[in-house]
Amino acid sequence: MEDYQLLIDLHKCANRQGPGGEAETEKAISLAMLDRSAPLKIADIGCGTGASTLLLARLLNTRVMAVDFLQGFLDVLEDRAEHMGLSEKITTLCCSMDNLPFEDEEYDVIWSEGAIYNIGFERGVRVWRRHLKRGGLLVLSEITWITASRPLEIRQYWEDEYPEIDVASSKIAVLEKAGYSPIGYFVLPEHCWLVNYYRPMQNRFRNFLDRNGNSEEARAIVAAENREIELYEKYKTHYSYGVYIARKLG
Ligand SMILES: C[S@@+](CC[C@H](N)C(=O)[O-])C[C@H]1O[C@@H](n2cnc3c(N)ncnc32)[C@H](O)[C@@H]1O
Repeated sequence: MEDYQLLIDLHKCANRQGPGGEAETEKAISLAMLDRSAPLKIADIGCGTGASTLLLARLLNTRVMAVDFLQGFLDVLEDRAEHMGLSEKITTLCCSMDNLPFEDEEYDVIWSEGAIYNIGFERGVRVWRRHLKRGGLLVLSEITWITASRPLEIRQYWEDEYPEIDVASSKIAVLEKAGYSPIGYFVLPEHCWLVNYYRPMQNRFRNFLDRNGNSEEARAIVAAENREIELYEKYKTHYSYGVYIARKLG
């Protein structure tokens, strides 16, 4: 739990906890062809402090169920929602994404940015499917190789961190086998990583270390993040987050 407290401490004052961006969330809304006036029920899974939740609530006629297993992030999301006058449209739920207490066919849309990797893409798309209405939409971002071959150093790093990393055609095949019809895909541009996520995080490192007495655990977190950033800067032409939009079949 100590680890989670440190992670909450490092990330809770950030707009987002992973690569992404408002324009890209809006692009996914367009590719999903969501009707902006129709009432929709959306679950945003692994929402963090709510970058996508707040935008969905602002742009759509929706009620969003914002799910994360860290209450510290949900507390911040609730404050932000109140500040933006969106509290009526957003409910938070602290629970694990592999044990969602939802009904079958409850949601029009399941949204998840940079979070499904926590239970694995293949498992996630399978276990979440039953909560989608027939014809409902799944919108996910997932780390993806964007070149045909990769230098050994980055291949080894990501295969250790997340062995399910793969090319888009493999991810799309997983969606098809799990009972979805893929209807859109695009790649997050570099600014989603550097400007929207890594640079603001790097700017928080000094205060984070000070607040935590420069402890070994805090230093280990900063070192791991710096390593990830260094590798991204070196190998960013080889991977990004892919955004996948798919319709539930059957
Ligand atoms: C990389 S962050 C992305 C957050 C947010 N979607 C964004 O793009 O800013 C992943 C999020 O998943 C949450 N998470 C990790 N494991 C989880 C689990 N098993 N169940 C629910 N949430 C989880 C983390 O707390 C974190 O907020």
